[in-house]
Amino acid sequence: MHFDAIGRVPGDPILGLMEAYAADSNPRKFDLGVGVYKDALGLTPILQSVKLAEQRLVERQTTKTYIGGHGDAAFGKVINDLVLGADNALIGQQRAGATQTPGGTGALRLSADFIAHCLPGRGIWLSNPTWPIHETLYAAAGIKVSHYPYVGSDNRLDVEAMLATLELIPKGDVVLLHACCHNPTGFDLSQDDWHRVLDVVRRRELLPLIDFAYQGFGDGLEQDAWAVRLFARELPELLITSSCSKNFGLYRERTGALIVCAGSADKLLDIRSQLAFLARNLWSTPPDHGAAVVATILGDPELKSLWADEVEAMRLRIAQLRSGLVEALGPHGLGERFAHIGVQRGMFSYTGLNAEQVKRLREEHSVYMVSSGRANVAGIDATRLDLLAAAIADVCVS
Ligand SMILES: Cc1ncc(COP(=O)(O)O)c(C=O)c1O
Repeated sequence: MHFDAIGRVPGDPILGLMEAYAADSNPRKFDLGVGVYKDALGLTPILQSVKLAEQRLVERQTTKTYIGGHGDAAFGKVINDLVLGADNALIGQQRAGATQTPGGTGALRLSADFIAHCLPGRGIWLSNPTWPIHETLYAAAGIKVSHYPYVGSDNRLDVEAMLATLELIPKGDVVLLHACCHNPTGFDLSQDDWHRVLDVVRRRELLPLIDFAYQGFGDGLEQDAWAVRLFARELPELLITSSCSKNFGLYRERTGALIVCAGSADKLLDIRSQLAFLARNLWSTPPDHGAAVVATILGDPELKSLWADEVEAMRLRIAQLRSGLVEALGPHGLGERFAHIGVQRGMFSYTGLNAEQVKRLREEHSVYMVSSGRANVAGIDATRLDLLAAAIADVCVS
C-alpha cells in the first residue's frame, strides 16, 4: 500500500504537557507550560479593544472576497507604523513594506521561502537555545541551520560567546535575532549589546532577521521596538517578522506580517513581487479577520489607546509576577539564586531548574513546565506565589 512506509513523529511536547495538566485533578495545580498569556483568573480572554473592533467589523464589513497577496493595505500601514515608528524615514521613502501573513509563524515561513528562493546558498544562524519552531521551519525550507551561543549551561546570557561566533559567520548568511522577550530564556540583550551585534552584522555583511513576537510584553510598546528601529536606521536591509498573537490576544486568528526594509523603493517593489509569488504558493492570500481587527484598532485613536492600556496591563502583570516570585523565594534562601527571573523579560523564564527538578515539580506538586526548565510566568496565579515558591524550594533543597 502507498502509505505503508510512513511512520509516526512524536507530538509537540508542550501539547502533551497541556493534556497532562488538564487530566490532573489537583485543584492546586499550576500551568506554566503553554506559551499563552493568562490573566489573574487563569484565562486568556479576548481584549476589550478587540471585541469593540469585531463589533464594528460585523456591522460594517460588506464582503468576504479575497484580499490581495500582501493582505490588507490598511493593516500593512498600521503594522509598519507600530513596528518601525510612524515617523520612520524608511516609510516616507517607501523602503519598508509589510506583507500580511498567517501569524508570526507565517511570516517566518515566508522569510524562509524568500531566503531559499531569492538568496540561495545562504545559511541561517539561530540562538542556542531558540524557539523550537525556528529550528524545524528553516530546515524544512532547505536552509542550512547553524547556531550561535546565547545562554550558557550556567543559565546566564553569554554575549561574549555570541559575538565571537557572529564574527565567524560567512558573509551573507542570515542571523535571526529576537527583538525582545527571548523565547525560551527571557534573557534580552542590553542596548549596549545590540550596538555590538549591529557592529558585527555590518562588518561581516550579514543579513539580520528580527523576530518580533512580543512587542509590548517586555518594557513597553515603544521601548521593545528600540533594537528593531536601531537596525532599520543603521542598516540598508533588514527582515522583520511581527506577530499580533500575543499583544492583541489574536492567537487563533493567525495575524502577523513580514516587513522588509530595502535599500531603495524600487528594490522593495522587486522583493514584494517575489513575496507575493511565494505567498501565493504557500497560502494564496492571508486570512483577513485578525488583520482587520488590528487595522480597526490601530486606525482609531480611542480604540488604540484602550488597546495600549490593555497591553500595558498584561505587561505589568507579568513584571509583578516576576518580582513577586523572586520575593516569595526569599524566605527559602533562594532569592539570589533565582534573581534572574526578575531580570528576564516577557512571558518566559529559563528558571535554571533541571529536568529532574521539573519532573519532581510535576509529579509531587502538580507544577507543569517544559523539561528545559522554561516557565511561562504569565501562567502563575498571583494569589498562590508562596505555594509555588515552596514547591520550587522543595525540589531545589531536598
Ligand atoms: C519567538 C516566537 N516567534 C514567533 C512566534 C509566532 O507566533 P504566532 O505564529 O502564533 O503569531 C512565537 C510564538 O510563540 C514565538 O515565541
